[in-house]
Amino acid sequence: MGQSATARAHTNIALIKYWGKQNPELIIPYNSSLSMTLDHFYTDTTVTFSTELTADQILFNQAPADAATNIKMSQFLDLIRQQAHFDLHARIETINHVPNAAGLASSASGYAALAAAASKAAGLDLDRRTLSRLARRGSGSATRSIYGGFVEWQRGTNDTDSFAVPLQETVDWDIQMIAIVLNDREKAVASRAGMANVVATSPYYPSWVQTAEAAMPKMRAAIIKKDINLVGQLAEQSAMQMHATTLSATPPFTYFEPETLQAIQVVQQLRQQGISCYYTMDAGPNVKVICTSQETPQILTALGRYFKPEQLLVAKPGPGITVQQ
Ligand code: DP6
Repeated sequence: MGQSATARAHTNIALIKYWGKQNPELIIPYNSSLSMTLDHFYTDTTVTFSTELTADQILFNQAPADAATNIKMSQFLDLIRQQAHFDLHARIETINHVPNAAGLASSASGYAALAAAASKAAGLDLDRRTLSRLARRGSGSATRSIYGGFVEWQRGTNDTDSFAVPLQETVDWDIQMIAIVLNDREKAVASRAGMANVVATSPYYPSWVQTAEAAMPKMRAAIIKKDINLVGQLAEQSAMQMHATTLSATPPFTYFEPETLQAIQVVQQLRQQGISCYYTMDAGPNVKVICTSQETPQILTALGRYFKPEQLLVAKPGPGITVQQ
């Protein structure tokens, strides 16, 4: 038997989006971003390094990973093997409690859990900042999933100064999210390829970076004030400004689908009726509604006219990473 550790990481939803890399190899973003970690959606990963293995073995929900994922995760393990000064292969067992269909990044919780479990199993005792930097090498959004509550990823300029910091780990005010699962078709343009195309070709990209940076202190202040309306407005703006960059890329593309607009309209109508709810979207068609738990039943009723109950998933702020050996 080898050295083993298990970690649990929760996924997160960006309120100020990360969109575009200044260094694609090290995953250093052009702009800082800010997210809320979610309670209901998480990944459990066990990593075991063993002399008995002749290659890395990677299982997702007990099934072998596809070839591309195998290569990516093995390369990620190489970073840990280098730091730990050994070359043992590993068995990685991942159970995802992030419904793929929810359009929530399982790569965020996935790489955060892998970074924590693999480093612990390798005998490295990394602090959370170092773990955040390591998770970043797997997927940008994973940088933030090390911490619970509201989290800021400070963009930095290199491997040592690009990491996340906790802003408000315990959220003692009323904010939550409803994910509207519109469809579970595979995305036509993955976030990695989408943002690379935008950086390379959109004439609006420099404006995106400037506006996203300017929104960061505003969002921080809104969170400190526990102001759901301001948080929601800023999150909605950030999401739509990000999506505007896709339309202005060459070739142009969009993550919007007809049902996306339908969901957005319901949110807008509810707001006209005085309900505090705001929409955000990532690199896919699904809409996430930011709202209070108090008004969630009314919002679910309104959404229920267009969507089935199983398409509507509610999540609250969630905790940071946990690791066991
Ligand atoms: C729109 O973290 O999936 O969800 O770093 O290439 O793995 P890579 O991209 P990823 O991109 C997330 C983009 C986003 C916004 C966000 O989560 O901040």
